[in-house]
Order: sequence, then C-alpha cells, then structure tokens
Amino acid sequence: MRLSKETERKITEMLSEMTVEEKVAQMQQVSYESFRPEVFERFCKLGGGSFLHVLGEEADAIRAQAAQTRMKIPPIFGIDAIHGHSLLNGAVIFPSQLACACSWNPELIEEMGRVTAREVNADGLDWVFSPVLCIGRDTRWGRVDETFGEDPYLVGVLGAAIVKGYEEDGLVAACVKHYIGYGEATGGRDSYDTEVSMRKIREVFLPPFRKAVEAGTSTVMTAYGSVSGVPMTVHGKLLRKVLKEELGFEGFVVTDWYNVGSLRTKQKAVESYRDGVRLAVEAGNDMSMNSYQFYDHAIALAKSGKLSMKYIDEAVRRILRVKFSLGLFDESKKRLPREVIGSAAHVEVNRRLTRESMVLLENNGILPLKAQPKRIAVIGPNADDVRAQYGDWTFFSHPHESPADCMPSGDYYTVLRGVRTVFSESEVVYAKGCDVMEYSDDAMLEEAVALAQSADIVICVIGDCLKQNGESRDRANLELSGRQNELVRRLKETGRPIVTVLVNGKPLCIGEAVRNSDAVIETFNGGDLGGLCAAELIAGKWNPSGKLPISFPRVSAQIPCYYNQYPGWHGDKYMDVEQGNLYDFGYGLSFTSYAYSDVTLSSATAKAGDVLTVSVDVTNTGGMDGYETVQMYYSDRFSSVLTPERQLCGFQKVFIKAGETVRVELPLAVNDLSLVDAWEQTVLEPGVFDIMVGGNLKALKTAELVIESKS
Ligand code: NOJ
Repeated sequence: MRLSKETERKITEMLSEMTVEEKVAQMQQVSYESFRPEVFERFCKLGGGSFLHVLGEEADAIRAQAAQTRMKIPPIFGIDAIHGHSLLNGAVIFPSQLACACSWNPELIEEMGRVTAREVNADGLDWVFSPVLCIGRDTRWGRVDETFGEDPYLVGVLGAAIVKGYEEDGLVAACVKHYIGYGEATGGRDSYDTEVSMRKIREVFLPPFRKAVEAGTSTVMTAYGSVSGVPMTVHGKLLRKVLKEELGFEGFVVTDWYNVGSLRTKQKAVESYRDGVRLAVEAGNDMSMNSYQFYDHAIALAKSGKLSMKYIDEAVRRILRVKFSLGLFDESKKRLPREVIGSAAHVEVNRRLTRESMVLLENNGILPLKAQPKRIAVIGPNADDVRAQYGDWTFFSHPHESPADCMPSGDYYTVLRGVRTVFSESEVVYAKGCDVMEYSDDAMLEEAVALAQSADIVICVIGDCLKQNGESRDRANLELSGRQNELVRRLKETGRPIVTVLVNGKPLCIGEAVRNSDAVIETFNGGDLGGLCAAELIAGKWNPSGKLPISFPRVSAQIPCYYNQYPGWHGDKYMDVEQGNLYDFGYGLSFTSYAYSDVTLSSATAKAGDVLTVSVDVTNTGGMDGYETVQMYYSDRFSSVLTPERQLCGFQKVFIKAGETVRVELPLAVNDLSLVDAWEQTVLEPGVFDIMVGGNLKALKTAELVIESKS
C-alpha cells in the first residue's frame, strides 16, 4: 500500500463533505451472487463501497453507476483469486497454496502473486482475498489445502512474498486472512472456537500476520470463529489493539462472509443485529462482507449517537486510503489488456512453480525411468479428473458449483494427458479402477488390474476429491477413502512396478499405498500443469526439489503431528502405532544426494538486535545437478516457558552441480530466537541455543550460540 500526506489531506476533505449514509455505504460490501437482485441493485445505486464475486464487464457496469453518485467514489472489487485468478475460467490456475509451499521458493511465489495481480487487473478487478495465513496444524480441517503448511516461520516468509507480488505493481490489493487462529478450531471443525491463550496467539499465529503487514498488505480479513470464546468479529483486543495499534496496520479490515449477522444467528453473542453492528465496528472491523443489513443499522446507530462517528470516520479513512493507493480515483489507472490472461509468459511462471512444488516421497531407484516403457497403464480415480487436480476455489466450485459438463477453457494437463505428452513414444492405456468416494463395483477394479497386467509399468493416481476439501468439509478420517488402498494392493499383486501419484488437498494416511508402491510423488492440487509436471518428474526431465511444508501422520488419530510441538515426558509415541510421522515437515527426496559439513557461525556469542551469518558446506554427492533447500532450525536449550526442540528460523534454496560443493550463507536475526514469556512479552532470554542446519529434520548439523545477557 502506498501512503502519502497528500492522500490523507484529500481524505480529510472528503470526510468533511460526506453524509453519514455515504460514509456507511463505503463500509458495506455486497456479493453479486447471493442476494435478491433488488438488494444488489440498491447498493449499486447508492454507491456501495465494495462488491465481491463480480467479474469483468459486470464490474464496469457497477463502476459506471458509482460514477453517477454524489461523491463518485469508485467501489473496490474483491475476488477469491486464491491460486491464480482461479474463479475465472481461462485464467492461469496455479497449484494450491499448500502445493506451492512445497517449493520453499519465496521468489517464485512472489512471481505467482504478480501474475495473479496482472490477470485480476486485466479482468477489471482490484482486490484479491489472498493469501491465507492460517497455520495448518490440525489436518482434519477442510481448508488445509489453502494454507502454506504448519510452520509459522515458513507461512510468514511465503505469505509476505506473495503479498509483495500482489501489491508491488500497484495493480491489486492483497487481503491476508483469516485473522486469527481460524485454522486451529476445536476438532479441526471449520469456524468453531479456537481454544488458545494470548501467549500462544503471539507465539504461533501472529508472526505471519506481522510479516504480511510489514510487507505492505492493504487489507486483513477477520476470521469466522472465536478465540477462547470471544468471537473474532468483536475481538477489540486482537483487532484494534494488536493489529492496528501494535502492528501498525494502516489498511482496512474486512469481515469474512456474514460475520456480523452470525454474531446473533450462529454465535449467539448478541441479541440484536444492531448490537452486532455496533460491537463489530467498535472492535475494529472497517468493512462488512455481505451482512447487508449492516448499512441500515449502522446509519441508525450513528444518527442516534450509539455508535461514535470517530469509528466510522476511521473506517472510511482506511477504506479510502486503499482506494487512493490503488489509483481507483485516477481515470488513467493502468488496466492491462485481457490478452495477458492465460498468456504464455504467465503459463511459464506456473510451469516453474509447479515443477518445484512436486515432492518425491519414495523411490526405490525406479525413478527416473531408465528407458521409455513400451506400454504404460495409467490407473486411478484422479488420473483424469481435473476437478480433483485443481482442488478448491476455482470456477468449478465458486461462487457456485459449475455444471458437470463445464471444462477449463485454458490448457491443462491431468496426469493421463501429461503421461501421453511426455511418453509420446509409449502406448498409454487408462482405467479409473475405482471412485474416490462413491462405491465402485468389482468390474471397475478388475478392468484396471487386467490393464496393469498388460503394461510394463503402472502409474497409479489416487488421493481425494473436491467434496473432501473446503469450507465445512472437515474430515474425521484421513485414511484413503473408497477402495483406493485395495486398488493399489491389487495392482501390486500384478508384479508390475508401481509409481503412485497423489492428487489431494492435504496429507492423507497413505502408509499402505506407500508399501505397495515403488515410488510415490505428492502433487497436492497441482493446478493446470500438475499432471504434466508429475509425468516429467517420472521421466527425469528435471531433478525434483520439493519439500513438505506439513507433516504426514501414519493414522488419523496421531493428529496433531506438526514437528514443532513442545517436549513432553514420554516422547511422541502411542503404544499402538509405529512411532513418529510417516513423513516429517521439510522432507522430500531428490535424484541426487547432498552432504552437509562445517556449520559455522560468524560469532559464537550474540545479543539482541545482532544479525549473524550461519555458513555451511553443501556437497552434491550424487550424479545429477539439483536444487537443495537448506533448512536452519534452532533450539533454546533452557527457557522459562516451553519451546520446541526444533524451530525453523531460515532456509535457502540453492542450485548445486553434481560433484560440487557450495558454501551457503544464511542470515540469522538473533531477535528471531525470542520467545513469548508468561506475561505475553516477547523476550530474548540469555543462554545457549543450538543452531541446526540440514536438508531434513532427521539429519541436522549443529553449532552452538550463546546469547549474552544485556548487562
Ligand atoms: C468465505 C471464506 O472464508 C473466505 O476465505 C473468502 O475469501 C470469503 N468467504 C469470500 O468468498
């Protein structure tokens, strides 16, 4: 967001001219899809501050109506451009946030933000409801696919990168969400209460938002749920005090969908709608999404003096600030030509990011394939299902479910098409084998087994489907659903080599399928090019470098299994399951191997405010060039409150040629080693810290750092 004194002066002038009605109208956001037409029309005529889920020409028509109002304030158009401008058929569909996080590549993710901003702008819109900064630690939650994974540090770095990409060219505003704690609702059930202390909020959930505010996000979205029983919509401490005052956020806060109305209807926190409006504004919400009765109640409250004009003026100032910053008042504001949507240059960015988002989980040496197989059997329910591959938040599912015959108008590759393209010399045969959720009959299974029998290799594509991901699609059971395990088992019995490709929203319990496979690739929701890149990986067109941003449990009841839990008395074991995760955070294989040595710190002692350099030699000891993600963790040996035994505090992706050694230097800001103490204060406690560097959690090399006391 761009701020200037001149803009503030203009806003002050405008505020002095505006009526209460005109001011409150700025605070009202209305959805195109979900109301009776007369409600929508009403807000178009009176100059509603914002509209959402409007595309292209519809937005222009509304803009023209706003230009007829007395103040001529342009509306700001918001859209759920969650992985690309994904609600528009024809735009580039990137991998889901979770998939992108596997790249551990902030530069590419920033580039994805820039591409999305260009496509959104070319479609005449101004504002993306992205990124999600929720922490994906309870993987039963239906929206884990929308997160950058389980680690606050990684989420913060990638979140800040995409915010920069969205905002830097001044084309669109970002909206970081959902503030705050939404991802960890009780039982993984969407929008339920999050039972966490303020200390935990500050330690785990706030840091990514802090980074996003520093990166310049224009807007923040208030979560649906509540924190320790206080609805987020009325959480003055977290919204006004922490976000606006403490973090210094100067943009505006928009509620999530119908938050104000839900204070009464769902959370039963107020007796009347009007009370909800008053409390929501007083707490620090500047714009109300879709609680369209907000407008009349807020006017009545302001006119009767029950809601102070100071809150309304502040909200409108913040909204106008973002509108000015985006150049919405400027008639010559840059609008890119529609041709940029889905352009070759944008597809190229998608290709690079999708390649880096693939994670090789298992490989007994079969990959990369040594020769073109004569006959390949592509089997499985997700082998040719673009809806499953795209995942949530595309035109298939939002704002409404699209008809069954709707297909993407851009170029896209399922795994089946990817294999046919990459292995153009091979004969490729296909059978679905079973459905993901529906009951599948034996004939389907037998057909797949027979095809597998006739092939030299089987590529088996399993996972989950759209119905198992998204808002209110939380799962109690993360085992592979339907007959998928049976399918892989039967394929294995053919004796053919099995390469399993996972197309799914989030970590599933895949132990049995893994045991029956020779190699396993995790693609999550790979977007347009997910299937192509999976096939390229199998063929060894490039060396995979993706690492997991989230841990995989062996069985559902092991959740939560995130890596940075506090130490307990008896380790993390259950007596009836094999100990540890199936896959840890930070894990991912390559076609080469790396060795780490000589971890050194630029200084063995440090104090608050210092920035050290941590150096390490990384050698590519295998036979193929590759990208390695060097990960840095720390452990505070003794601390006044519990701290994790390993906490990520830096990473860098480096290219290393086969046989070469690279000296990698990672900056370490000593303040990042601080903890939140029992009094909610962020403090750097003196003592010994272990600084650990490596390619995964199980192989870290340590150097010792002493933090000296202030005196
Ligand atoms: C509900 C979702 O929680 C939020 O992520 C989204 O941006 C808004 N609705 C608008 O669709």
